This record gives sequence, structure tokens and C-alpha cells, in this order.
Amino acid sequence: MREEDLDFHKRTEYTRQRLFFTPRTAQRGPMPPIYKEYNVEKIKLPKDFEPKGLLLEEAIQKRRSIRDYSGEPISLEELSRLLYHAGGITATEQAYSMKEFPLKAAPSAGALNPIEIYPVISLVEGIEMGLYHYNPKEHALEILKQSDFRKKIAEVCLDQEFLAEANVVFVLSAVYARTKWKYGQRAYRYVHLDAGHVAENLQLEAVSLGLATCAVGAFLDDEINKFLELDGEDEFVVLNVAVGKPMKQL
Ligand SMILES: Cc1cc2nc3c(=O)[nH]c(=O)nc-3n(C[C@H](O)[C@H](O)[C@H](O)COP(=O)(O)O)c2cc1C
Repeated sequence: MREEDLDFHKRTEYTRQRLFFTPRTAQRGPMPPIYKEYNVEKIKLPKDFEPKGLLLEEAIQKRRSIRDYSGEPISLEELSRLLYHAGGITATEQAYSMKEFPLKAAPSAGALNPIEIYPVISLVEGIEMGLYHYNPKEHALEILKQSDFRKKIAEVCLDQEFLAEANVVFVLSAVYARTKWKYGQRAYRYVHLDAGHVAENLQLEAVSLGLATCAVGAFLDDEINKFLELDGEDEFVVLNVAVGKPMKQL
């Protein structure tokens, strides 16, 4: 490893002499808000669906990164299933002095769930093109900006043109304070690991529904954060997942 990478790794290591999370250091100050909510118009997503799709092992076997999409729309129910199984609230438990602390579909360090999901929608039945934010508490989409962002999302991801053809690009951001509050310097590692879990859930759910998918980690940080109106420090984009209708059956 190069020195500067090693430096970060060493500075964030746990050793027997140094833990960032101890009963003494843990939970510095009041807990940051566990939800981000925009005060905008919302679209309720259907949730009364029965489990369906491939067996988990079939989905794992079939998953490949696919970058060609047919241009047919996906349904609102498919979008809803993708969001619920990636970042939805699947249970609650008593924790952090809350009676009903939310637990989500993907595992998260300390259950603090720093990952927010911003779907950039291009081709979903009944939904206008635009940038949205997923509200897991209400299982709803918050409407941020309605416009054709197909070119924009490809541009901020280093001109990866296939993103302009995807039905939805799910942009995953990290709200750093949620994890930092408990894990201090170790948090920078954890938010990326958390994003990986959300992304893999999203991809396996997509495959399970017969949809094509690809993770995208190459993006211009400043430009994508600006597009989402994030400051790039307290909240920043960590990964994207494109989902589209495949050209041929998976
Ligand atoms: C963190 C991460 C970042 C990635 N970034 C990109 C990307 O920017 N563009 C792209 O086309 N594929 C990207 N990929 C997909 C990989 O290229 C792909 O997973 C890899 O080639 C293995 O192929 P498979 O997914 O079909 O198994 C990324 C995957 C991961 C996990």
C-alpha cells in the first residue's frame, strides 16, 4: 500500500490500546437525527406486495453487471420493491433510548443507517423523470426536482453513457454524523461498508425481479454532490446503482 493510503488505514485501526468506540467515548453528545426528510410533496409507494422473485441463491448465481438496457419502462411496484429491499424499514427494536428504533433491510454498523437513497428516475410507469429522495419511514418518494436528468447523471459519472439509458440510477449518499457519533474516526470505513450492503441488496433484488443492474463508483464527487445539493462533507455520495430493463431475459 502507498504511504498515504496506509496512513489512513493505520489512523483508523483498532488496537488493544486504542478503540474509537468504548463506553467512555461512545455516543458523544445528542444523537444526530436518524431520518432525513425533505419538506416537499411526496409520492406514496405501494407496499402491500407478497414476496416474489428468484430464490436468493439463483439471484446470486445470475447477477452480472449489465450495461445495456432495452428502453422499456419498469413498474411503480418494481421501483417500490427495489427501494424497500435495499433501504426499507423491516423491523424495529428498543435501542438508543427509543422504543421503536428502525432496523433496515441491509445491515449497518451500530444500526445507525447513514445511507440515504436518491433515485434519479428516467423510465418508471406513472412517475415523472427527475431526482427524488427515498423516505423509508413513510415508504414514499420525496419529489426534489422533476426534469430529464439522463444526460446529467451520465455526465457526473465520468460520461458513462449507459447511465443515460438506465430506468433508474439509485444514488447512495452517506450522512456522516450518524456513524461518526458512535464510531469516531472509524466511521469513514463503516459508511462505505454500509453502502456496499445497500447496493448489493438493491442489485440482488433487481436480478430477482428480472432486471439488469450495475454498480457505479466512478463519479466526479463535487459535481454529483452539487447535483444532489449535498455539501460533500456532512453528506456525500458514495456509490450509484443503475437498474434497467434488460435487452434479453436474464
Ligand atoms: C465499488 C464498485 C464500483 C464500480 N464502478 C463501476 C463503474 O464506475 N462503471 C462500471 O461500468 N462498472 C462499475 N462497477 C462494476 C464492476 O466493473 C463489476 O462488478 C466487475 O467488472 C465484475 O463483474 P460482475 O459484476 O459482472 O461480476 C463497479 C463495481 C463496484 C463494486
